[in-house]
Amino acid sequence: QAIYLHDYQPPAYRLERTELTFDLNEKATRVRARLHLQRHPEAEAQAPLVLWGCELGLERIAIDGQPLLESEYRIEGETLTVERVPERFLLDTEVVIEPAANTALEGLYVSGPIFCTQCEPEGFRRITWYPDRPDVLAPFTTTVIGDRDREPVLLSNGNPVERGELPGNRHFVSWQDPHPKPAYLFALVAGKLDCVRDSFTTASGREVALELWVEEENLHKTEWAMASLKRAMRWDEQSYGREYDLDLFMIVAVNDFNMGAMENKGLNIFNSAAVLANPQTTTDAAFQRIEGIVAHEYFHNWSGNRVTCRDWFQLALKEGFTVFRDQTFSADTNSAPVKRIEDVALLRTLQFAEDAGPTAHPVRPDHFIEISNFYTLTIYEKGAEIVRMLRNLIGAETFRRGSDRYFERFDGQAVRVEDFVDVMAEVSGLDLGLFMRWYSQAGTPQLDCRGEYDEAGQRFTLTVRQHTPPTPGQPDKLPLHIPLRMGLLGDDGTPLTLSVDGETPGTDTVLHLTEAEQQWTFEGIERAPVPSLLRGFSAPVRLDYPWSRDELAHLMRFDEDGFNRWDATQRLALTAIEEMMTAHAAGETMHLDARLIDAFRYLLNQPADDRAVLAEMLRLPSEAWIAEQQSQVDVDAIHAARRAAIEQLADSLYADFERVYHANQSTAGYAPTPEQIAARSLKNIALSYLTASGEPETLAMAKAQFEADDNMTDVRAALTLLAHSDRADLGDPAIRAFGERWSHDALVMDQWFATQVTRPQPDALERVRFLMQHPAFSIKNPNRVRALIGTFTRDNRVNFHRRDGAGYRLLADVVIELNRLNPEIAARMIAPLTRFRRFDEARAALMRGELERIRAEKLSRNLHEVVEKALAET
Ligand code: ARG
Ligand code: ZN
Repeated sequence: QAIYLHDYQPPAYRLERTELTFDLNEKATRVRARLHLQRHPEAEAQAPLVLWGCELGLERIAIDGQPLLESEYRIEGETLTVERVPERFLLDTEVVIEPAANTALEGLYVSGPIFCTQCEPEGFRRITWYPDRPDVLAPFTTTVIGDRDREPVLLSNGNPVERGELPGNRHFVSWQDPHPKPAYLFALVAGKLDCVRDSFTTASGREVALELWVEEENLHKTEWAMASLKRAMRWDEQSYGREYDLDLFMIVAVNDFNMGAMENKGLNIFNSAAVLANPQTTTDAAFQRIEGIVAHEYFHNWSGNRVTCRDWFQLALKEGFTVFRDQTFSADTNSAPVKRIEDVALLRTLQFAEDAGPTAHPVRPDHFIEISNFYTLTIYEKGAEIVRMLRNLIGAETFRRGSDRYFERFDGQAVRVEDFVDVMAEVSGLDLGLFMRWYSQAGTPQLDCRGEYDEAGQRFTLTVRQHTPPTPGQPDKLPLHIPLRMGLLGDDGTPLTLSVDGETPGTDTVLHLTEAEQQWTFEGIERAPVPSLLRGFSAPVRLDYPWSRDELAHLMRFDEDGFNRWDATQRLALTAIEEMMTAHAAGETMHLDARLIDAFRYLLNQPADDRAVLAEMLRLPSEAWIAEQQSQVDVDAIHAARRAAIEQLADSLYADFERVYHANQSTAGYAPTPEQIAARSLKNIALSYLTASGEPETLAMAKAQFEADDNMTDVRAALTLLAHSDRADLGDPAIRAFGERWSHDALVMDQWFATQVTRPQPDALERVRFLMQHPAFSIKNPNRVRALIGTFTRDNRVNFHRRDGAGYRLLADVVIELNRLNPEIAARMIAPLTRFRRFDEARAALMRGELERIRAEKLSRNLHEVVEKALAET
């Protein structure tokens, strides 16, 4: 039942035009589709017509006005085949669907009182019979009929062209989208919605109406998304020369949504969590995330919609490029180094883990069972890293010329990854043949580097070996084309001028690693240097180099590259924590290396030139990243050692943290500006160290910050410290007060859930079970499931991995229930269980047992694919 890339066949029939009519009703929506089809000139005259459909009540099917007899078509699984059709014809169908019963949230469904759609990748087939594949494009005309009171607002793609009244208190609006599009970009929204309007004048002087549609109670949370949208529109004009192409751009917020948002042509639909923001309810991190997602969906208008994918194997063509575009936008708008640090931290923990697990897949997979399972960190984040490497290889200006050419040449077409890389090769003259392996080879490459200083010859030789560990189905890996940005630091911290093979590229250069092992020699080096490697994280790889701790501290102070200063700090902390883990395992007391304390003291006493980066440097490596270093993960040792490191830093540097806490208090009114965000993040990390000291007055400081109630960033930071402390007399009242204050706001209650289920105390799992009964929780809502279950299994590792297996049982129970309700979310939530091979035998056996319990259910295609991969013998 797997689908293979190499089986691709072009469509036999083209669509000239699609005309849809929806007669909305929660229980029975009638969908009429008039498809103007034409045989492709290259297709055989006998080619049958194949359409896709899923859970559709077919009421009528006719060709050119003639109803088809039952013998003239056949339905098998999800396809409908008509053997004989004319060369050019009108296919007219009518189906009945039930949006209210659609808990999978794919196709047309209801979210509270709102009708909405999610069609990517294959949701349109739950709406009507259709050539539901991205390489069949058509202009759409959509008429939506609804109740005048329940559905006063009726939206679809493009421009509204007609509206009118109908008998029985009904009304309609007709929409026309002139840009040919695949069905996955179709959207419909209907219900009682309010609108915030604005406008944008494009670079060429066209006026675009901007509309943000929300339910009435959310009107106070719309300003930020609208401002972000306008910034994104301007940025895309300036950075990529891309203008918006319709007179109207709409965003709608809905409460039930499987992902963050969706780039439907002219009508983006957003998960309310990815668009609604207000200082009282939303943290700085969420403000920034929302800005990034609004930009991401907007950028898809070109990278995705105008130029789309030939088939779903090419998903990274649009997602990798668009993530890269939104990353660059956020870097330009906020602290660029912090944006890079955050993106790399995400990639190195969660994407590396995916690459090392049973569901590892290339950025362009060559087969799949359920494409919804491939909206992964590998496709999105590693896909973006590939685009970033391309730009770094050919230079920003050449890259821009390449992207201009790409958009121009392929406008209106459905294309492949090769088409993108080929234009980049064309404009740069660089051979990117070997580079293409990044798309077909799964797994994280490992670089082992060694340096040798030859004092007599005054040269430094760097040896780099690459190898990629096997992944399921790909036992043998080939070398990749890896750009390795680097420099050398002198012992006084000055950057050394590099000279390789008679060329002097300056203090910073990019080495092209293309073979399994390569060597570079730098001449004229007067004393042993400290190499700074993989600057800016120039490739998505793991890199080892035998730096001493003193060398790491040296890099932390002096590296010209901000990213590598952070990375050196992480490495230094990592070695110190690993040493404590060893002590923990041997039952000895854990002592934190004084060099880390010295390094932190140095950082805390630096002139505060970049506070945003400083805050990141003070954050110890996450438990997830520490786990990534271990062949067998010891969750308890990781947690204990990291916690002990925090406490010892807090004790040794109490006065420094206290000073930093007070120095970064703001008196200005809240604004999510880069400067304020940096100050808050520094202040709150300082406060978290202070409370780790165990000094009672530090929790009083947290309590005061909580009660000052100035903005959600500060409130949530303080609440977390109170709720995670052992002082129930402080934590419980704060949790109660917060829960009562925000019981009317589901998005804030998600934060309330997340804060409680990340408690390190051993009662966390019982709390999860208890909160699943809370009236604010619903297993049918993906945001609630992510906040409660997703946060627990990802961010509370000690409690999820409890020795008695209760965490695994809890997750399996939830997955079994979700399997019936929402297969896509079920297949995402199960991920932590599939990684059982990384744990000790006892835990692995418990996890495997739960996977087998899940396997015994009647599984959706989504879960079936993931569970079988997880349990496969490799
Ligand atoms: N294209 C959307 C985005 O990245 C995500 C669509 C996800 N669809 C899904 N079935 N998971 O912006
Ligand atoms: Zn996207």
